[in-house]
Amino acid sequence: MAMATSPHTLLLKNPNLTPLKNPNFNNPITTTNTNTRFNLTAKPLSIKCAATSQTQTPIQAPPQTQSHQDRLFNFAAGPATLPEKVLLKAQSELYNWRGSGMSVMEMSHRGKEFLSIIQKAESDLRTLLNISDDYSVLFLQGGATTQFAAIPLNLVSPSDTVDFIVTGSWSDKAFKEAQKYSKPSTIWSGKSEKYTKIPSFHDLEQNPDAKFLHICANETIHGVEYKDYPSPKNGLLVADMSSNFCSKPVDVSKFGLIYAGAQKNVGPSGVTIVIIKKDLIGNAQEITPVMLDYKIHADNNSLYNTPPCYGIYMCGLVFEDLLDQGGLVEVEKKNEKKAEILYNAIDGSNGFYRCPVEKSVRSLMNVPFTLEKSELEAEFIKEAAKENMVQLKGHRSVGGMRASIYNAMPLAGVEKLVAFMKDFQARNA
Ligand SMILES: Cc1ncc(COP(=O)(O)O)c(C=O)c1O
Repeated sequence: MAMATSPHTLLLKNPNLTPLKNPNFNNPITTTNTNTRFNLTAKPLSIKCAATSQTQTPIQAPPQTQSHQDRLFNFAAGPATLPEKVLLKAQSELYNWRGSGMSVMEMSHRGKEFLSIIQKAESDLRTLLNISDDYSVLFLQGGATTQFAAIPLNLVSPSDTVDFIVTGSWSDKAFKEAQKYSKPSTIWSGKSEKYTKIPSFHDLEQNPDAKFLHICANETIHGVEYKDYPSPKNGLLVADMSSNFCSKPVDVSKFGLIYAGAQKNVGPSGVTIVIIKKDLIGNAQEITPVMLDYKIHADNNSLYNTPPCYGIYMCGLVFEDLLDQGGLVEVEKKNEKKAEILYNAIDGSNGFYRCPVEKSVRSLMNVPFTLEKSELEAEFIKEAAKENMVQLKGHRSVGGMRASIYNAMPLAGVEKLVAFMKDFQARNA
């Protein structure tokens, strides 16, 4: 193909774009971001293009392996850190997925390559969570927030009562959205105790005619996590598992519906996973938009319209990685160990650090803590960042600090944080 018609050439000809001359190679590289310098210190790879007649400007792939020092310990609540192995695998497959001659980003969602990707992702997730054939697994878009509306729209009629346990900001948001499409009632709220508790299930009084009970299995902002689950009167339990999805084994058969945004434990943002008992599908309210109707997505194997293909591919790589680690029993052990050393450091600090959450329901994933001398919090965050530990600031609604230690946070990251906390205390007590 003549260079004049190549999309790369169009970029090169655009006078507003600055070609960066990489000192290591002769090829000019064009970028819209003049601050960006790609690290092209790796040996040039020879890349064969599937479209045979085109002459391709060789773009050098970044190094296949990078030193750990290049990466920070990212304690963000989501989007969050991803397993290094998964990122490197995705990097190695980015340009040409397994000999297909194209990136996953370029594939038709109806082609055999992508079908194999989504089917494998679903099957690996089913293995991980031991999901029976009574359940559909849907890969959707719109974040968990969209599910706050989709759930009442699909499961009940506008006059139906539904129960909510409100243990933090996320269950509160779900409750508020449900008001538009059903008659929700809060049967327990932890608001007056600043969302530091989960209720005892014996004390709960469910509405006798409630069509489902909604919980948030792990409150990402407040750091409270269910260690067991209530049994609703009619058996229909609905759970937002966005921030502890695949962090431990779960008995899916206890739930009518589980939903989770991917961007904490299992992939990038843009993918929302819904696991729903099949007999609950097919009764959506008439006003339900087609994109929120579970039946449409279930009947079309999550391919009714163009799904978030690359995100689903990344989730699939994460599921493979979790299986390689020995499944969720092993993953939970690692998560328990990380959480234990962090909570021990907080509790053993003689009050220098404090976690407000009741011990029995402390999250394995999101650890909020404050400093007794709150005026030191900004300094703590600044110094931690200098030590390559970032995103430790608490959510703007609660302040303090929060360390999110999802599956992909290595033990070394938590150990480093704990060592830093001890040192910071020694210098500032
Ligand atoms: C528990 C929980 N539910 C729901 C949401 C909203 O998710 P999304 O931003 O994907 O809509 C979040 C986001 O952080 C969350 O942590």
